[in-house]
Amino acid sequence: MMTDRKLIDMATQVMGNAHTPYSRFKVGAALECTDGEVFSGCNIENAAFGSTMCAEASAIAAAVSSGRRSFKRIAIISEGASYCFPCGACRQLLVEFAPEIEVLCARSDGRYVSYPLSSLLPMSFGKEQMG
Ligand code: THU
Repeated sequence: MMTDRKLIDMATQVMGNAHTPYSRFKVGAALECTDGEVFSGCNIENAAFGSTMCAEASAIAAAVSSGRRSFKRIAIISEGASYCFPCGACRQLLVEFAPEIEVLCARSDGRYVSYPLSSLLPMSFGKEQMG
């Protein structure tokens, strides 16, 4: 059984691969699938700033590209002193696949908080709205 701590450790490990020459703000994410597999991702910045990928988006891309679409937890950590909450766009990416996912937001001192995605993105837009 993957503990919260282990998932956060995996996010911390991948954070080291972040490509962040512009912001110097490294982020790591570890996404746990319902089958127990974990896919991790880091943020990947680009000289064309708008082409930057968030760590969560990288992890989702890795998981979906490997055939997984069912997720139960995601851990997110940055080097900053504050909790790293997922940006609005990443909340939307997550709700597409996992409206019930648990989001663990960790701080570099090891503390973390946990929220259901539904509390971070209430009244979300999804395929149900498209009739
Ligand atoms: N970033 C993430 O990777 N995830 C988040 O949840 C917040 C922001 C990245 C994008 C960019 O490389 C840097 O953090 C500063 O915005």
